[in-house]
Parts: sequence; structure tokens; C-alpha cells
Amino acid sequence: MRIFLIGFMGSGKSTIGHHLARQLGWDFVDTDNIIAVQTGLSIPEIFTRHGETWFREKEREILLSLLSKDNIVIATGGGMPCFADNMEMMNRAGITVYLRLPPEIIIERLRHGHIDRPLVRNKNPEELKKFVEETLKKREVYYNKAKITIDSRNQSVESATRLIKDALDVLFSDNAGF
Ligand code: S3P
Repeated sequence: MRIFLIGFMGSGKSTIGHHLARQLGWDFVDTDNIIAVQTGLSIPEIFTRHGETWFREKEREILLSLLSKDNIVIATGGGMPCFADNMEMMNRAGITVYLRLPPEIIIERLRHGHIDRPLVRNKNPEELKKFVEETLKKREVYYNKAKITIDSRNQSVESATRLIKDALDVLFSDNAGF
């Protein structure tokens, strides 16, 4: 079985995913990381040299290559579920967990950590706010297809991980989705 963490940039997928994997004794991967290692380029460099469409194709390729891996927690890039049929593929192949945060918290987080994120890095505060609000609205259509949704506002990494594990227990005991 595999777990896919999805959600907007800055929602804590990598940090929480790492922690969750350690607790489960599973492997952890981050799709952005895999792409960066495979190409030898940073994510901003990939966007500059090859463009977003190329990145989305690469992202999908990575996703396909992960579908056969077992006992693995996968932190996905914020856009991954929203392209092609990636969300359906993840839902067929494992448990999708949406780490939900309200736009104001995402904006606050991205204000401080936007350097590595080409889609937001040149935006001033007003542009960032507009981008997050509009993009989140569009993307939630996909994110809301997740099997588990965690409201990660005000949650530490430990408590968010606990919420995911509790939700997984319920899912496994109901035998739903398997
Ligand atoms: C993106 C999110 C990023 C990365 C790329 C595009 C997006 O990943 O894949 O910059 O479209 O939301 P994180 O969500 O890990 O920041």
C-alpha cells in the first residue's frame, strides 16, 4: 500500500510525510526531489529551461514509476493532482491524504518560503494573495477527491501525523477503498 500526500505549496507535505513514513516504518519520497535528482536541475531551473508543461510531463512520469512501490509515503508537488488524470491514478493506487489549509495561512507561509517555487517567487504580496486564492479555488476541485482530508491548521507535525494515522485506522477497519 502507498500513501499520497497532496495539497497546496506550503501545506507541509514533505515534513509531515517524512514524519509519517518514519512512524510507519515505510519509505518516503518527494516527487519534486526525484525530478530534481533525475534532471540535475532545481525546480526553478526546470521551469526556466524547459517550461511548466515539460515539468508536468516529468511529474506524471515519476508518478507512474511510483505506482508499483509498496509501503511508501509520497509527498507530491502542489500541482500534481490537478493535471491529466493524476488524481484518479493516485486514488486507484493508494490512499490520498489532502493537507488542507486556509488561503491566509498558505499566503503567510509562502511569503517566507517562496524562493524555490517558480510559480510564486516573483510575486508581490497582492499578486501572491490573488494567485493563492484563485489557484486554490481551482485546485480544490481535485484536492477534494482525496480519501482523507486533514485540517492541518494549528497542527504540529506530530499532531497532523497522528490525525492521519487515526484516519488510516478508520479506513482500514472499515475496509473501505481496498
Ligand atoms: C508546484 C508546487 C511545487 C513544485 C512546483 C510547482 C505547484 O511543489 O512542484 O514548484 O504547481 O503548486 P510543493 O507543493 O512541494 O511546493
